[in-house]
Amino acid sequence: MLAVRLLLLLVLQAPCRAGGAPEDPTAELSVRLYHQLQAGGAEDNIVFSPLSVGLALGLVELGARGSSLEEIRRAVGYGHLTAGEEFSFLRNASRELEADDGRCVVRVANSLFLQVGVHFDPEFLRLARKYFKADVETVDFGESAATAQRINAWVENHTESKIRDLLSADDLGSPTRLALVNAVYFRGSWKNQFRPENTRTFSFSRDDGTEVQTLMMYQQGDFYYGEFSDGSTEAGGVYQVLEMPYEGEELSMMVVLPRQEVPLATLEPIIQAQLLDEWASNVKKQKVEVYLPRFKVEQKLDLKELLQKLGIKDIFGKDADLSAMTGEEKELFVSKAVQKAYLEVTEEGAEGAVGSGMIALTRTLVLYPQVMADHPFFFVIRSRKSGSVLFMGRVMNPEVVEYSDPEFEAA
Ligand SMILES: *[C@@H]1O[C@H](CO)[C@@H](O)[C@H](O)[C@H]1NC(C)=O
Ligand SMILES: *[C@@H]1O[C@H](CO)[C@@H](O)[C@H](O)[C@H]1NC(C)=O
Repeated sequence: MLAVRLLLLLVLQAPCRAGGAPEDPTAELSVRLYHQLQAGGAEDNIVFSPLSVGLALGLVELGARGSSLEEIRRAVGYGHLTAGEEFSFLRNASRELEADDGRCVVRVANSLFLQVGVHFDPEFLRLARKYFKADVETVDFGESAATAQRINAWVENHTESKIRDLLSADDLGSPTRLALVNAVYFRGSWKNQFRPENTRTFSFSRDDGTEVQTLMMYQQGDFYYGEFSDGSTEAGGVYQVLEMPYEGEELSMMVVLPRQEVPLATLEPIIQAQLLDEWASNVKKQKVEVYLPRFKVEQKLDLKELLQKLGIKDIFGKDADLSAMTGEEKELFVSKAVQKAYLEVTEEGAEGAVGSGMIALTRTLVLYPQVMADHPFFFVIRSRKSGSVLFMGRVMNPEVVEYSDPEFEAA
């Protein structure tokens, strides 16, 4: 019995375009992953890429057979597709998202690092190239430091250096046979950018009652906006949904904001896949006053633990059947699954000058709906056409303003 390990890595990076199939079978996966993460960390920020998880699982599924295969199909929600149709779906989803028109960049890259000297089924490699455009490269996992460095360089290269040091030498070793790496990079410019000179320091109230000073962006502009009810009776249970498109209007960010006095945790349980569609189809274009903190969220996820909770168990243990990868019975299993995600939201997506002082609020005369994200909120970056979810998360702790910043010393 060979103790063979397989390493699955997901790499991910953030900030614009997408298109797609009429309905997205990974929307359900997004929400289920979110609920698992939310249950795990009470006051932490969350960011992950459901699309990236879907792609990496797709690559594993390509090599899986028997119950290993069935578990993945069931957990992701491919039950209504004919066998294998999901690969075509995933290929279409990443094709439609990929764009590089200068202002808005989505890059999806998959790579298979194979142990030199081990036989892999050529059909598996062919399909990996066909559906996932996977780069295939051989390495020596016995040389764990050099190989970790090589993989990290690949990741860095595909995420404009936003994700570094994904792996350490300890993650690899002579029993490792294969590493699957998926990287998604996103950089988007808002269709309606915030003017940096309107950004001010502002108090953000966290759900534990404490306040922090953060940089708050401001604009009044045409966005998609709606008010929804969470079903509670207090003040009609109203919460706000603001959809802000990126350049090209194919991708947008939806910000979901509870009322000031309501902790985000009260709203989170109602979030479901079909609710994402409901928000998207019920928001209406109108003038809105938006206060949104600049934020940067970063997270490294242990996907192994998360996926096991969703019912994907076989591939991680002795019952794994990944025989389509090598042609050998029960030889491989997945030893590690990691995703690192990074998202930075700024006035335009690049650096800008920052003003200081307070925003003058005209609370007495509010002409337009006001979305004031000065307390925790939920966000989704998704394709406006297909509903494919590129990023999902929440901001509980925005970036705290550093007063050592020379601009603030000068003020
Ligand atoms: C993917 O795109 C091709 C060509 O556009 C189409 O024929 C196929 O039905 C699509 N597959 C899925 C699962 O949507
Ligand atoms: C980085 O990417 C460029 C272009 O995509 C490629 O030519 C180069 O070989 C890559 N380097 C590494 C270390 O993968």
